[in-house]
Amino acid sequence: MAIQMIRETFGVDIQEIPRIKVFLEKNLVQWGVRENDLYDILLACDEAATNIVMHAYRHADEAKKNSDSIMLTVKKKRNVVEVILKDEGESFDPDSTPAPDMKLNLAGLRKGGFGVYLMKSLMNRIRYRCQDGRNITVMLKVLSS
Ligand SMILES: Nc1ncnc2c1ncn2[C@@H]1O[C@H](COP(=O)(O)OP(=O)(O)O)[C@@H](O)[C@H]1O
Ligand SMILES: [Mg+2]
Repeated sequence: MAIQMIRETFGVDIQEIPRIKVFLEKNLVQWGVRENDLYDILLACDEAATNIVMHAYRHADEAKKNSDSIMLTVKKKRNVVEVILKDEGESFDPDSTPAPDMKLNLAGLRKGGFGVYLMKSLMNRIRYRCQDGRNITVMLKVLSS
């Protein structure tokens, strides 16, 4: 079976997140991706894109945000969906980000910190690298249904 692939670019803006979800959902449904897998992918992608806007562009000025974009590529080959997000914001080291800590959150000592954990739980594999000034996040989902 041929690889199915779609690509679209989105602005570096939190208001783009719902558009990313609509675009993903429309195409994944067309490819026959069923509910549970679909929602896992949508949520993981929402977290990844939100992190790009909120963290990778945390120090960026409006001009950079307006001129940069988030490039989303989605591929499906047999029962595997691959989601790739590319951005030109600041890079980070996912291995050095602290693990989520429910106790600290409940005690009000820390906010959030569950996005990366969620992405890892929902998808089968997450890879992140920086290459030629671009950050590349690759997420793989093995479809169950
Ligand atoms: N794309 C990214 N670019 C830069 N830093 C990131 C990125 N994604 C995550 N981080 C860093 O990892 C931390 C953990 O991310 P996450 O688990 O989503 O929690 P939260 O977004 O609630 O802080 C963030 O606070 C941030 O410091
Ligand atoms: Mg987050």
